[in-house]
Amino acid sequence: MRHLLDTRTLDRADALRILDVAEDMAGTQRREVKKLPTLRGKTVVNLFFEDSTRTRISFEAAAKRLSADVINFSAKGSSVSKGESLQDTAQTLQAMAADAVVIRHGASGAPRTLATSGWISAGVLNAGDGTHEHPTQALLDAYTIRKRRFGDASRGRDLSGVRVTIVGDILHSRVARSNVWLLHTLGAKVALVAPPTLVPQDVSGWPVQVGYDLDEAVADGPDALMMLRIQAERMNAAYFPTEREYSRHWGLTPERFAALPESTMVMHPGPMNRGLEICAQAADSPRSTVLDQVTNGVSVRMAALYLLLAGERPAPADDPATNDATTPNQKEDAR
Ligand code: NCD
Repeated sequence: MRHLLDTRTLDRADALRILDVAEDMAGTQRREVKKLPTLRGKTVVNLFFEDSTRTRISFEAAAKRLSADVINFSAKGSSVSKGESLQDTAQTLQAMAADAVVIRHGASGAPRTLATSGWISAGVLNAGDGTHEHPTQALLDAYTIRKRRFGDASRGRDLSGVRVTIVGDILHSRVARSNVWLLHTLGAKVALVAPPTLVPQDVSGWPVQVGYDLDEAVADGPDALMMLRIQAERMNAAYFPTEREYSRHWGLTPERFAALPESTMVMHPGPMNRGLEICAQAADSPRSTVLDQVTNGVSVRMAALYLLLAGERPAPADDPATNDATTPNQKEDAR
C-alpha cells in the first residue's frame, strides 16, 4: 500500500490486513512499555488545515509508539494563513524528507492531489477531507464493531451479516461516506436514517437502505447504531427547524435508548453534542463504544502507518505482537 486516501477503493483483502495488523498493534498497547522500534528514523508529518482533537493526537500517539519522529504542522499560525499554497507547503515537507504525511483538509480531494501531484514522495494518509472521506475513522469503527461482536475470534473475519445503522447528518459527514464503503466491502448491511434534508442527493448509488424514522430503526435492533454529529460549521442553510425538533425526531433520546435492544452497541465518532444527537445516558453506558473507538483508533493508525512505511506484513516471527524489542535487522545482527 502506497497511500490511504479513501475506503471506496480499498479492497477487502487490504481492509482485513489493516484490521488484523491493528489486532497485533493492540496487543502491544496492553503492555507496560508500549513503544515499538519499527519506524525508527522515519518522519511523519501531521498536516492539519482543519481543527481536530482526537484524530490528530491519535495519529501522533500512533507514530510515536512506532518510534517515528513526528512533526505537527497546523495551518493556524503557519504560513498557510499567510496564503501559502498546498503546493508550496508540500514542497517544504519534501525538502524536510517526510516519509508520511497525514493530512486533514477542508477541501474534498486535497489528499489525493497531494498524493498524485508529484510534489512529494511521502505516503499520504487522509485524516478527513471536506465532506468526502475519513478512512481511518471507518477502519477504527469496523475494528470496534468486529471486536465487540467476535471478541478474540475477530482476526481474519469480515462483517458479513452484521447490521449497522448510521443516523443523522449524513450530508456533511465524511465519516458516514467512509463507513458506507468499508462496511459494504466487509459484508455488513448498512442503513441510513436522517431527515430528508440531510440525505445527500447521490445516495441512490450507495449500497445502503435509506429510512427516515428513527423509532423504526431502533425497534429493528441493529447490531450497531452509529450516531453522527450535527456539523453546524458546514451548514450554510437551515436543515432543520430547531435543535429541539432535531433531537425529538433524530436524536438518541433516553426513551429511544431504553427501547434499544440490550445487544445493540451505540457508536459516535466524536466530538459529541450531548443532548442533541445523543443523550448522556447512551453516551456513558456500557453499550457505548465511544471510548473504545478512541483506544482502537491508535492501534488502527499504527497499522496504517506500519503498512505504508514498513512494507509488507512481517512473517509471524517478526510479528510486532510477539516481538517488541528488536527490528528485523537487529535480529539479523544477533544471529
Ligand atoms: C469526525 C470528523 O472530523 O470528520 N470526527 C473525528 O474525526 N473524530 C466527525 C465530526 O467531526 O463530527
